[in-house]
Amino acid sequence: MFYKLSFCLAFFAAVALQAQPSLKSIPVPQPINVDQFIRDRAALTLLGKALFWDMQLGSDGRTACATCHFHAGADHRSQHQLTAPLNATLTSSDFPFHALSDPTDNSSTVLRSNSSIYGSAGTFRRKFTSINFSNGTDDGYDLSDVASFALDGLNLRQVTTRNSPSVINAVFNARNFWDGRAQNVFNGSSPSGIADSAATVLVYRDGQLLSEKVNSANASLASQAVGPPTNNVEMSYDGLKWPTLGQRMLTLRPLAHQRVAVDDSVLGPFVNSNAKGLHPSITYGSLVQTAFAPEYWQSPEGRDGFSQAEVNFALFFGLALQQYQSTLVSDDSPFDRFASGDTTAMTQQQIMGLNLFRGRAECNTCHSGPEFTAASVGALLNNGGRGGPPNAGPDTGFFRTGVSPLEADLGLGGVDDFGNPLSRNPNAPNVQGAFKTPGLRNIEFTGPYFHNGGQATLEQVMEFYNRGGDFPAGGLGPSVRRLNLNANQRAALVAFMKALSDDRVKFQRAPFDHPELCIPNGHTNSAQTTDARFTFSADENWVAIPAIGKAGAEAPLQTFDEMLEGVGNDGSRANHLSQACPVNPAN
Ligand code: HEC
Ligand code: HEC
Repeated sequence: MFYKLSFCLAFFAAVALQAQPSLKSIPVPQPINVDQFIRDRAALTLLGKALFWDMQLGSDGRTACATCHFHAGADHRSQHQLTAPLNATLTSSDFPFHALSDPTDNSSTVLRSNSSIYGSAGTFRRKFTSINFSNGTDDGYDLSDVASFALDGLNLRQVTTRNSPSVINAVFNARNFWDGRAQNVFNGSSPSGIADSAATVLVYRDGQLLSEKVNSANASLASQAVGPPTNNVEMSYDGLKWPTLGQRMLTLRPLAHQRVAVDDSVLGPFVNSNAKGLHPSITYGSLVQTAFAPEYWQSPEGRDGFSQAEVNFALFFGLALQQYQSTLVSDDSPFDRFASGDTTAMTQQQIMGLNLFRGRAECNTCHSGPEFTAASVGALLNNGGRGGPPNAGPDTGFFRTGVSPLEADLGLGGVDDFGNPLSRNPNAPNVQGAFKTPGLRNIEFTGPYFHNGGQATLEQVMEFYNRGGDFPAGGLGPSVRRLNLNANQRAALVAFMKALSDDRVKFQRAPFDHPELCIPNGHTNSAQTTDARFTFSADENWVAIPAIGKAGAEAPLQTFDEMLEGVGNDGSRANHLSQACPVNPAN
């Protein structure tokens, strides 16, 4: 009898281990049906990396994708990241947002419950007027923003209403965004997939220019990428459309105002001799022509006064960003080495944490597989087979854990731009308030945590799970309940999560090396910008993220709690947000 039991346990342990092998065992998902568009993958990666880091992409010429994804693929800025109060400088005492007199008991007295969100500062609220070809940015004017992002009569940058997740390993997500609205199927021009029935691109075939539909599965990163550039909170002035953005970008020299390391793993061979941007012979137009089949850009004609290449710019952009981000895979953590048989790769405490993660704490109900999320392409192909209800299909891996009250953010319970439910099974229980389970890799560096950014440390996250969530009313996903773990067990789980960090991310080594970036980090109180075009905008603080080559930085990335405590400002941490920009981007 005892024999049998231990045999069974050993058998299940072996199965569990197989279910969570190294990420190296998982093929990187590739978009279906895209070979017809692409003729040079290396050029596509180059194009994608330049576009991701280029400050010229935003209407103001100062906002890149990386502005909100510069730090282990996420954003840990310290000032003006809250939706309220505006322009706050964050400190440790602001966290957790929902503070309890007894952190082990979610029904104990609430000391504080801050319903604001730690988002990412995006762009000022401005109206687009025209392209300014002389300086490569957009012209526009300040819109009154009295109601939301204004202070002392001046507009501040708008702040997103969710925390920015990491782009590293996002290629494994079946759908992207916290609510899944970046669809698995890319339609060539918007995030909404097949729901956007008007989406077409132009193809030039047998001397004729034709409208064609794009229908590419496993391309959620392409669907995602075509959202922010024309979004008037994140990157653009209000009213900018994709063909106009294409018209401006196709003429520009990539990264013209930013330093690039000569040994950058992708951009290095093409760096300009003064080390700023790529070589003058290269424009975004020339990179598009190298990367994509001529049928998609060669016609002299186009649509609505735009050339074919300008009309198809969203297609190029989406596929290039999908390709670059599909190289951002961190599959060499101590956990991966341990899972591949190196029993010394994790400490005893981390192994104890792993056993709790898969055992008593049941974290892997949702954080399953080598991706540490059941919201993965792998789980989708497996028909929702890992965690979640069977046949969850495209909703695989979306759960409610009680981070905020139901009515604060419906998550998967919301609708797309066309009013369609984001859930494929909208009447199922627990769709309302469900969010995509994040993969936990490099989690040490991507605080604050959760869709609202309400927890500063992994210890706080552990306390949250230990008490069974903060807002259980309305129902919780499987395995979220009071865990009664003691301090040693919680510490072991935290130690285990730190075994999911890849040193290449921690030290920004290839493929996680990157160009220089200047990012706004809060506003100067009551001061007006020196930019004479925008008299209603507040002045701001700019900090530098230096260019890093393929060998990486000497200092490890700063964690969010180190930033809050000012640890690393002496240079002992990378991206410590107190380095001045080499040029003042406001001039
Ligand atoms: C102003 C800040 C900001 C900018 C600029 C920005 N993002 Fe994001 N990003 C966010 C936020 C916030 C979210 C989460 C939004 C949500 O889920 O509703 C997000 C989500 C994502 C995700 C989804 C990851 C996941 O796990 O769901 C990816 C991928 C991503 N962004 C890539 C990009 C790319 C590519 C660009 C440029 C085209 C970009 N971002 C520009 C803030 C930003
Ligand atoms: C019911 C499914 C489920 C279970 C069980 C679960 N998680 Fe999560 N986890 C999620 C979801 C969904 C989120 C995002 C929630 C949100 O932001 O609203 C999340 C978020 C997190 C985050 C923050 C990630 C980030 O990028 O912000 C961490 C860390 C985490 N979980 C660790 C754990 C640990 C450790 C356990 C076990 C004690 C656990 N989870 C159990 C579904 C789950």
